[in-house]
Amino acid sequence: MRYALISDIHANLPALEAVLRNISARGDVDATYHLGDLVGYAPWPNEVIETLIGAGISGVAGNYDSTVAADYKHCGCQYEDPRQEELSHLSYAWTRAHVSPRTKTFLGALPFRIDLRPNGGHVAGPTVTLVHGNQTLNTVYVHRDRPDTFLEKMGAALGARAGDVVCFGHTHVPWHRVVQGIHYVNTGSVGRPKDGDWRASYVVLDVRDKAVSVEVIRVEYDVEAAANAIIASELPDDFADHLRHGGAERAATAPASHRAGGP
Ligand SMILES: [Fe+2]
Repeated sequence: MRYALISDIHANLPALEAVLRNISARGDVDATYHLGDLVGYAPWPNEVIETLIGAGISGVAGNYDSTVAADYKHCGCQYEDPRQEELSHLSYAWTRAHVSPRTKTFLGALPFRIDLRPNGGHVAGPTVTLVHGNQTLNTVYVHRDRPDTFLEKMGAALGARAGDVVCFGHTHVPWHRVVQGIHYVNTGSVGRPKDGDWRASYVVLDVRDKAVSVEVIRVEYDVEAAANAIIASELPDDFADHLRHGGAERAATAPASHRAGGP
């Protein structure tokens, strides 16, 4: 099976549409799943949900999704400084005010975790597990530089064994590591990358018997359309700059310990 994994779309419809076109044009993807954080930071929360429903794409709940659905007091995002905290609150309030009842119900119904069995459940074989953050909370950041021991505990808590694949998003930075035979895959972000590359990020995961391959794809999209729509909305204009620069300005100025954090 060859899966396309898309995460952290964050209401960025032009980015989502470009990624779905890219997946379709490949012609070699068997199934597409999302890894949550469908809304927030851009002005198309309902359109993103309708696009996913129309395309039949299932997935798991990100922190933004579950907090919007549950009317939680904040989005569960990490704040890098007081300005970022203020912006996050503005985005969260805007999103909660603009999601339709249908979108809110859809977000609330998302599962926390999905397990896939590429070889079928009737035989022993690898399991591909999808979560947004980690196995306990969708707010936990699994950064690339987490120590092996952190990933070993994560894999054990998920019941993963050598040959299995654990996939997640949330940090908005793509990476792939193998620890004790278990693959850990961060898909990056479709609609709000934070690694200095403005292009949408997604992963194509190929699992055949015991062979696993991970391909990180970057897709150009009409970032100016997204930026201009943000500026035309009541969302903070800062979010337009973030998209244009792939979060690079903030990454360059943020304390090293906080880089690649955020929603
Ligand atoms: Fe996110």
